[in-house]
Order: sequence, then structure tokens, then C-alpha cells
Amino acid sequence: MGKEAAIIFLFLSFYSIEILVAVAATSPLNSSTDEHSLLAIKSHIIASDPNNILASNWSVGTDFCTWIGITCSQKHLRVTKLILFTRGLQGTIAKEIGKLSFLTNLNLAQNNLSGSIPSSLGDLKALIELDLSSNRLSGEIPLFLGQLSNLEYLGLTFSSLDGTMFEDHFAKLSKLSDLRLSSLKFKVKLDWVPPFQLRRLVLKSCDIGGQFPQWVQMQKELEYLEMNNCSISDTLSKSLYNSKNLTSLYLSNNHIQGPIPNNISQMLPFLNYLFLDQNRINGSLPDSLCGLKYLLLMDLSKNNLSGYIPECLGNLQYLLYMKPATYNGCPRDKSASTPMKYEDL
Ligand SMILES: *[C@@H]1O[C@H](CO)[C@@H](O)[C@H](O)[C@H]1NC(C)=O
Ligand SMILES: *[C@@H]1O[C@H](CO)[C@@H](O)[C@H](O)[C@H]1NC(C)=O
Ligand SMILES: *[C@@H]1O[C@H](CO)[C@@H](O)[C@H](O)[C@H]1NC(C)=O
Ligand SMILES: *[C@@H]1O[C@H](CO)[C@@H](O)[C@H](O)[C@H]1NC(C)=O
Ligand SMILES: *[C@@H]1O[C@H](CO)[C@@H](O)[C@H](O)[C@H]1NC(C)=O
Ligand SMILES: *[C@@H]1O[C@H](CO)[C@@H](O)[C@H](O)[C@H]1NC(C)=O
Ligand SMILES: *[C@@H]1O[C@H](CO)[C@@H](O)[C@H](O)[C@H]1NC(C)=O
Ligand SMILES: *[C@@H]1O[C@H](CO)[C@@H](O)[C@H](O)[C@H]1NC(C)=O
Repeated sequence: MGKEAAIIFLFLSFYSIEILVAVAATSPLNSSTDEHSLLAIKSHIIASDPNNILASNWSVGTDFCTWIGITCSQKHLRVTKLILFTRGLQGTIAKEIGKLSFLTNLNLAQNNLSGSIPSSLGDLKALIELDLSSNRLSGEIPLFLGQLSNLEYLGLTFSSLDGTMFEDHFAKLSKLSDLRLSSLKFKVKLDWVPPFQLRRLVLKSCDIGGQFPQWVQMQKELEYLEMNNCSISDTLSKSLYNSKNLTSLYLSNNHIQGPIPNNISQMLPFLNYLFLDQNRINGSLPDSLCGLKYLLLMDLSKNNLSGYIPECLGNLQYLLYMKPATYNGCPRDKSASTPMKYEDL
């Protein structure tokens, strides 16, 4: 055998060993491997589970498909849902969770889980819902999330993860429709075209670079948008020309400047909730506000508005609350409709 042939032979032997290892690692997963995974998850949590839910309920010898928080598929009796939000759980997320290969819904929000998000979670390709919000998880937001191509809902608010989001975090998330994040930094290209069209977007206290992001403007199906405390310094008309279906708009505590667009009721005709308090919006209130006929709650306080409150706001039949208050606090009481100056309030 010549030297080159020997090298090729060696290479091939390593290659086949690798194939064997790979096959062993993906030995078939079944109902009993799911039970092992759940018990491993329990063993990482139970020690400090204050209500002892898992300790008493997830007990060996009973059918794990009846355990609290677990839903199984009918046919293969594989775990499809693991829903344990607000259960006072402490501890870490065991890596065995990655073997629950039928899992579509994982919600561990509002517990006290710590440690990092295990990389095995990237194996859960069937995931539709992933919510780890309000825990004490640490580390970065893993890039494998961007490969979970069935994901429709991703919740990571108040996670204490130390995160910068890149385009790769969303690479294959074409089905994503509900994204909720907080206290993260976005480093995406200005002209990034995301693969998704969201209906709901929450970005609380995120550093999105000062301007209203173009990728958010592209979300034409948005119904709920919350971007409080994100240092947005654009005008409203530049930001929101594209999301006609918005019913809830929360942009409190930014640096939004300029006036309330005088065609706001054509731009956002279905608004129920409008929260623009703590910005730098100036000018007077346009009569077009009265065209927001489904408005329920509105807060425009702590801006730099001037002039009078349009009397026609008293005609908004659903309006329950407005700040600053019109007409002595009762917007529906037309008899008391003395226009008040913002400066007075
Ligand atoms: C499940 O798979 C394991 C190996 O991964 C095997 O030992 C076990 O017999 C299988 N159980 C069933 C019920 O198929
Ligand atoms: C666990 O809780 C569920 C729902 O409350 C109940 O149906 C089930 O019987 C319990 N299982 C055990 C082993 O306690
Ligand atoms: C969360 O866990 C830490 C210790 O791990 C504990 O000090 C803290 O009190 C827990 N918080 C809650 C709300 O249970
Ligand atoms: C606003 O965001 C900053 C970080 O960008 C944070 O330090 C601050 O606590 C947030 N304020 C509120 C009211 O959430
Ligand atoms: C807006 O909502 C209507 C009614 O639900 C729907 O038919 C339409 O497709 C939506 N438009 C967009 C751009 O999502
Ligand atoms: C609102 O007015 C702006 C100009 O001020 C215009 O560009 C935009 O097309 C108008 N939008 C609607 C929905 O009428
Ligand atoms: C609003 O503020 C901008 C500067 O941010 C200024 O150019 C404009 O004249 C102001 N408009 C009113 C009506 O005060
Ligand atoms: C508010 O506007 C007035 C004039 O319209 C201006 O003098 C004042 O500086 C503005 N205040 C802020 C905080 O922008």
C-alpha cells in the first residue's frame, strides 16, 4: 500500500467509526425513553421545588402521561407538551429534555430556574411554542433557536439572559407569529428582511439602535406591538405606516418626536389601546383621533403636547380611560365639555 492509499484507508476507517457513533447516539427514542427524560428533568428540579408538585405527582410506576403538565400523543404515547409555568420550580433544565423528540409545546415561564439553556434543546425540531420567560437563566441566547423551523411562539422576557440578537437567531423561523423579548440588544442589518410575519411583538427595554427598525415596519400583520423603553427617536408617521391591523400599541417611555399624525385614524383604524406616554410628542391633538372609533384606553401623558383636547373625543363610545383626562375625567359626559389645555393638567 502506498503512503497516499494508507492515508485514505485511515481516513475511511475514522469515517465509518464516526457513522457508527452517530447511529448509536440516535438510538430510537420511544415512550420509555421519554419517561427517563422526565425523571431526569425532575431530578434537576425537585430538590428545591417549594410546593413539591413534581415530587408527589411525577412518581415512578404511574403513567407519566397523567403527570401534571404532561400531554402525550395518542398513538405513540410520546410527550408532546410540557407546560409547567408559574409552579415555583427551582433548579436547572436537564439536558435530557432534548430527547423528548415529539415535544411541540414547552412552557417553563415564571419559575425560578437557573443555569443555561441546554444545547440539547436544539434537537427539539417539532417545537411550536417555547416560553422560558421570567426565570433566572444565564448565558447567551443560543443560536440554535434560529433552526427550530416550526416555532410559532418564542417567549424570553425577563430571562436575565445576556443577549445580543443576530439575524441567525431567526434564520429559519418562518412560522414565527408571536415574539416576546426583553432587555436584549439587536444587531441586525438595517435592511434585514426577517423570514416571519408576526401578529404579536413584545420588545421591552431592548436596544434596537435608536430608530424604529425597518424589520418591524415590515410586519404587516401585526395586531399587538409593545416596544416600551427602547430609545426609539423616530416620528410616529415614519414608524407605523404599514401595520394597519394594529389593535394594541404600546410605545411608552421612548424618545418619539413630532406630532400625532393627523391621519392616525386612517393609519391605525382598529386601535383599542394606545399608549404613547413619556415621549417627546409635540403639537396639538388632531381631530383624527376621534376617528379611532374602537379606542378603549389611551395614555398620552408626559409628552410635549399643547393646545386643546378635541371635543369630538367625547363621541368615542368605547373610550373608558384617557390620560390626561378630558372633560373633568369623564370623556363621555358631553355636557361638561369645557375644552381643557394640556398645560392645565
Ligand atoms: C425503547 O428504546 C430503548 C433503547 O433506546 C429500548 O431499550 C427499549 O426496549 C425500547 N422500548 C420500547 C417500549 O420500545
Ligand atoms: C398527578 O396530577 C394529575 C392532575 O392533577 C392527576 O390526574 C394524577 O392522578 C396525579 N398523579 C399522581 C401519581 O399523583
Ligand atoms: C430563587 O432561587 C434563589 C436561590 O436559588 C432563592 O434565593 C430565591 O429566593 C428564589 N426566588 C423565588 C421567588 O423563589
Ligand atoms: C429601561 O431600559 C434600561 C436599559 O436599556 C433599564 O436600565 C431601565 O431599567 C429600563 N427602565 C424601565 C422603566 O423599564
Ligand atoms: C387584517 O385583518 C383582516 C381581518 O382579520 C384580514 O383579513 C387581513 O388579511 C389582515 N391584513 C393583514 C395585512 O394581515
Ligand atoms: C398619512 O399621511 C401621510 C403623509 O402625512 C401619508 O404618507 C400616508 O400615506 C397617510 N396614510 C394613510 C393611511 O392615509
Ligand atoms: C415639534 O418639535 C420639533 C423638533 O423636535 C420642532 O421642529 C417643531 O416645530 C415642533 N412642533 C411644534 C408644533 O411645536
Ligand atoms: C416643548 O415645546 C415648547 C415649545 O413648543 C418648547 O419651548 C419646550 O422646550 C419643549 N419641551 C421639551 C421638553 O421638548
